[in-house]
Amino acid sequence: MHHFRKEIAEAVARQAGLEPAQAEAALMTPPRREMGDYAFPCFVLAKAMKKSPAELAKTLARDIGSIPGVDRVEAVGPYVNFVLNDARLAEAVLREAVAQGARYGQSTDGAGKVVVIDYSSPNIAKPFHVGHLRSTIIGSALYRLFGMLGYTAVGINHLGDWGTQFGKQIVALKRWGRPEDVHDLMALNRLYVQYHQEEERQPALADEARAWFRRQEAGDAEALELWRAIRETSLQYFQRIYRRLGVQFDAYLGESFYNDKMGAIVEEAAAKGLATRSQGALVVDLSKQGIDPPAMLQKADGTTLYITRDLAAAKHRYETYAFHKMLYVVGAAQSFHFQQLFTVLKLLGYGWADACAHIPFGLVHGMSTRQGNVIYLEELLDEARQRALAYMRQNVEKRQELEDENAVAEAVGIGAIFFFDLSRQRVKDYTFDWDRAVSFDGDTGPYLMNAHARIAGIIRKCGIEPDSRADVSLLVEPEARVLVRLVGQYEEKLREAATSTEPSLLANYLLDLAHALHASYYKLRVKEEERTLAQARLLLYMVVKQVLASGLAVLGIPALERM
Ligand code: ARG
Repeated sequence: MHHFRKEIAEAVARQAGLEPAQAEAALMTPPRREMGDYAFPCFVLAKAMKKSPAELAKTLARDIGSIPGVDRVEAVGPYVNFVLNDARLAEAVLREAVAQGARYGQSTDGAGKVVVIDYSSPNIAKPFHVGHLRSTIIGSALYRLFGMLGYTAVGINHLGDWGTQFGKQIVALKRWGRPEDVHDLMALNRLYVQYHQEEERQPALADEARAWFRRQEAGDAEALELWRAIRETSLQYFQRIYRRLGVQFDAYLGESFYNDKMGAIVEEAAAKGLATRSQGALVVDLSKQGIDPPAMLQKADGTTLYITRDLAAAKHRYETYAFHKMLYVVGAAQSFHFQQLFTVLKLLGYGWADACAHIPFGLVHGMSTRQGNVIYLEELLDEARQRALAYMRQNVEKRQELEDENAVAEAVGIGAIFFFDLSRQRVKDYTFDWDRAVSFDGDTGPYLMNAHARIAGIIRKCGIEPDSRADVSLLVEPEARVLVRLVGQYEEKLREAATSTEPSLLANYLLDLAHALHASYYKLRVKEEERTLAQARLLLYMVVKQVLASGLAVLGIPALERM
C-alpha cells in the first residue's frame, strides 16, 4: 500500500505546493472505512493560504486530477479523502504478500541502526514480581517489533545481581537456612521473606546485612561464594521460565558486571565537577534541572547504588553497541530513577543521553499468588495451562483431532497471559481475570489463536491447491475488500506500534483482522465454488493467515495449525 500512499502524496504535493515528504507525513488513514483509504487534512495548508480548510479541501479535490490507482477523490469537510481502486489494490497487496511470504510486513527503516532494549531484568535473591512479568512481555514484543522494522535489536537482561539484598539473603541463610538451600530458589525466597519479618523485630539485623554486603563488595571469599551460588540458582530458574515463554536475550549483563566499571564513571563525575561530597556521600545535585533529591552515586560507607550501576551500564552499552536508541522497559514506579539517570548522563556531556528512553507501564492487579506483588511464575504458567485445558474440555468440539492437548493448552495459556497484557495501553493499570483471558470468545489471545487455527483448517480442507497467479480482481465483496485493506496496512501498523513503543496497536490490529475474517467465512466460501473465484479467495485466506501468524509471533504468541 506504500506505493499508493506515495502516489497520492506526490499528487497532493504538486497541487498544494508542498514537499512530497511533508504531504506524505500528513496523509492519514481515516477512522472509518466508508471514508476511504487515505485522507489529507487541509488544516496543514490553511495557515499559509489564509483560507478555510474546507474551502481548500474542495479546491484540492476538484483540481488534483487523476492519480494512478485512485478511483475517487472527495472533499469531506476539511479533509480530502482518497478511495483506492479495489482490483489494483488487491493485485498490489496480495502479490507482495505472496512474494514476501513470512517476511511480509518487514521494512528497512532501521537498517544499520541498533536499538538496545533492557527488559525483564529481575532481581536475583529477591522474588520475581508482576512488574518483571510485564517487562518481559512488553520488552520482548518491542524487541521483535523493532526487528521487523529492520533494526538490529539487542535484548539485555540487566539482572539485579548485586546490591544490599545479598547481605540480607546471606544473613537469612546463615541464621535460619540449611547449606543446600542455596540451590533451591523456593527456599531462598522463603528465607528472604523471613528476613524481612525478623528484621521488624530485630532492627540490628540490618547492620549485619549491610556488613555482609560490604564484605561482598570488598571481595570477601565467603560472601562471593554464597553470592555466586545464589545467582546460579536464580539464573537457572529464570532461564527455564524464559524458555517456556519463548523469550530471548542477546546478553545477560547484570548489575554485578559493572563492579569494575563504576569507579571510572564516578571519577569522571567528580573530575567534571558534577559530583560533590555531602555528609560523606557522593551526590550529583540536579536541583537546577528541577530534580530533587540529588542523585547519589556513592553512600557514605563507600558502597555503590542502583543508579551508579545504571550509569556504568549505559556508558558501556553505548561503547559496545553505539545504539541509535536505548529503551528501558521498567514499571512506572521507577520514572524518577530514569529521570535522574538520563539527566546525569546529559550533564556528563553524553549527547546520546537523548537517545535513551524509559518505557513505563502500569500495575497489574489480581495476578499475584500468596503475598504482595510476588508471583511464582512456574505456578502461574501451570495454572494458565490447566485453565486453558479446562476451558477447551468444556467448550471446544473436535478436540479429539489434537495430537497433544497438553501442548496446545500450554500455548493457549501463554497466549492468554501475553495478549491480556499486550492488548491494552501499556501505561494503564489492569486487573487480570483468568476467565476472560483464557476464553476463546471476546478479544483475547485464544480468540486470535483460534482464528488462525480455523483459517488453517479451511485452507487444509478446501480441496484445491493454491495458485499464486489467481485472479484477485474477483475479490469484490465488501468482506474481501476489508481483508485486503487490512493486510495492506500490516507494515504501517508495525511501524506505528514500534515508533510509539505501543504493542497494543498491533494487538488491536490483529483483532480487527480476526473480526474481519470471522465475518467472511460464510460470504467468501472456497469449497465448491467456481474454480477461479475459489482460487482468488484461497489466496486471500492464505495471506491473512500469514499476517495473523506473523503478528502473533511478534507479540510472542504461538500460532497453531490446530487447536
Ligand atoms: N532489577 C530492577 C528491578 O527489579 C529493574 C532493572 C531495570 N533496568 C535497569 N537498567 N535499571 O527493579
